[in-house]
Amino acid sequence: MENNEVLLRVEHLCQYFGTTKAVDDVSFDIRKGEVFGLVGESGCGKTTTGRSIIKLYDITSGSVYFKGIRIAAGVKSYKDAIAAAKKELAETKARLKGNTSSEAKAEIANASAKCAKTVSEMRAEIKKAKFDQKNCDKEYAKEQTAKLNAEYRPKLAANPGDKELKAEYKNKLNKARKSRLVTQIQMIFQDPIASLDPRMTVKEIISEGLIVHGEKDKKVLEEKVYEMLELVGLVREHAGRYPHEFSGGQKQRVGVARSVIMNPELIIADEPVSALDVSIQAQVINLLNELRDRLGLTLLFVAHDLSVVKYFSDRIGVMYYGKMVELAPSDELFLNPLHPYTRSLLSAIPLPDPEYEKQRKRIVYNPLAEHDYSKEEPTMREIKPGHFVRCNTEEYERYLEILK
Ligand SMILES: Nc1ncnc2c1ncn2[C@@H]1O[C@H](COP(=O)(O)OP(=O)(O)OP(=O)(O)O)[C@@H](O)[C@H]1O
Ligand SMILES: [Mg+2]
Repeated sequence: MENNEVLLRVEHLCQYFGTTKAVDDVSFDIRKGEVFGLVGESGCGKTTTGRSIIKLYDITSGSVYFKGIRIAAGVKSYKDAIAAAKKELAETKARLKGNTSSEAKAEIANASAKCAKTVSEMRAEIKKAKFDQKNCDKEYAKEQTAKLNAEYRPKLAANPGDKELKAEYKNKLNKARKSRLVTQIQMIFQDPIASLDPRMTVKEIISEGLIVHGEKDKKVLEEKVYEMLELVGLVREHAGRYPHEFSGGQKQRVGVARSVIMNPELIIADEPVSALDVSIQAQVINLLNELRDRLGLTLLFVAHDLSVVKYFSDRIGVMYYGKMVELAPSDELFLNPLHPYTRSLLSAIPLPDPEYEKQRKRIVYNPLAEHDYSKEEPTMREIKPGHFVRCNTEEYERYLEILK
C-alpha cells in the first residue's frame, strides 16, 4: 500500500492535569490506510493521547490536524512565548538601568518593539487556537450544508412538485447541519464492560451515534444495525439483547460495531483486547484487520506491549512517561531498536523457542543510569529515514554507530 496522504497529524501535543504531564510534546502523523501502533507501559499517556485527538479535552498545548483541518489546539506554547518575550525585555531594561546613553535608549526601544511584536503575534495565535478548538466542527457543518444546497437547490427549483426529492433533501440537510468532523474519528474504548450502557439494548447502543447525528428513519437505522452486527461477526438476533448477555469478546465486537456504523475514516482502538482472554484477543485483532481491508480504515492501535502490535502495525510509536521516545516502521523497530526503553519492551516478549527462552534476559529500563542529560537535553531526531529516537547529540552519534 503506497499512500502518503496524511490523515492525522499530531503536533507537539501536551495534555497536563495539574502537575501531571500525561502527554508532553508528542508529535506523529498517521497516513491514510495505515495502522499506527502506540505502545508503552501503564500510565504513559496512551489513552490521554487518544482522548485528546477526539477532543474530550481542551488540550494544553499543540495542535491536532485531521484531513488538514486543525481540530484541536492548545495555547500554552503561545502563552509561554509571551512570557519569555516579556522576561527578555525586563532583563534588557534591568541590564541598562541608569544608562542614559543614546545606544542604551536605542537598545531598549528595539527590545520593546520586538517584545510588542511577539506579544501581538502570539495573541493572534491564541485567538486562532481557541477559535479552532471550539468552532472547527461548526465550520465543517456549514461547509457541508453549503455543498448540499449547491447540489439540491437547482434540482428542487427544476422539480418544484417532487415530494420525494424534497424529503431526500430535508433528510440530508438535517444530517449535514449536524455533521461533525470529529465523528469521522471513532474510539473503541479500553474497557468493553464499562463503555457499554447496561440499560440499553445492543441495537440502541449501536445506532445511538447515527440518531445523534440526525438519522430519523427507523428502517434505515434497523438495517444499518443488522449490517453492522453481521460485519463484526454477530447476528441480527443479538440486536434486542443487553450487554450483560454477552461475553467479553462479543462486547468488544459491539464496541467495534458502534464505532464502525459512523463510517469513520480513523478508528482509535484503545487496548481493545487487553481486557480479554488470550484466546479471544486474536479474534478481535483479526476482526479489526479484516475491517481495515474491507472498509479502508486507518487505525491508531494502542497497546501496552509490543507483541500485540507487532504483526499488525505498519509503524509503531513508543511512549514513556508522556514522551514519545522512539518511532519507526514496525520491521525497523524490531530489527534495530535503539532507545533503551524500546529494548526493554522487546526483551519482555516471550518467543515460542525454548532455547531462546532459556537465554532471554529481561532488560530493565532505568532512565537515570541510561542517560546523562545534565549537559544536553534530548530531542526527537531522525536516525535514518523514518526512524526517530529521542536522544541528545552524544546518544545520536552512538546510535548512528550502532546502525553501521
Ligand atoms: N482525567 C485525568 N485527571 C488527572 N490525571 C489523569 C487523567 N487522566 C489520566 N491522568 C493521568 O495521566 C497519566 C496518563 O494516563 P493514561 O490513562 O493516558 O495512561 P495509559 O498509557 O492509557 O495507561 P494504561 O495502559 O494503564 O491505560 C497517568 O499518570 C494518569 O494518572
Ligand atoms: Mg489507557
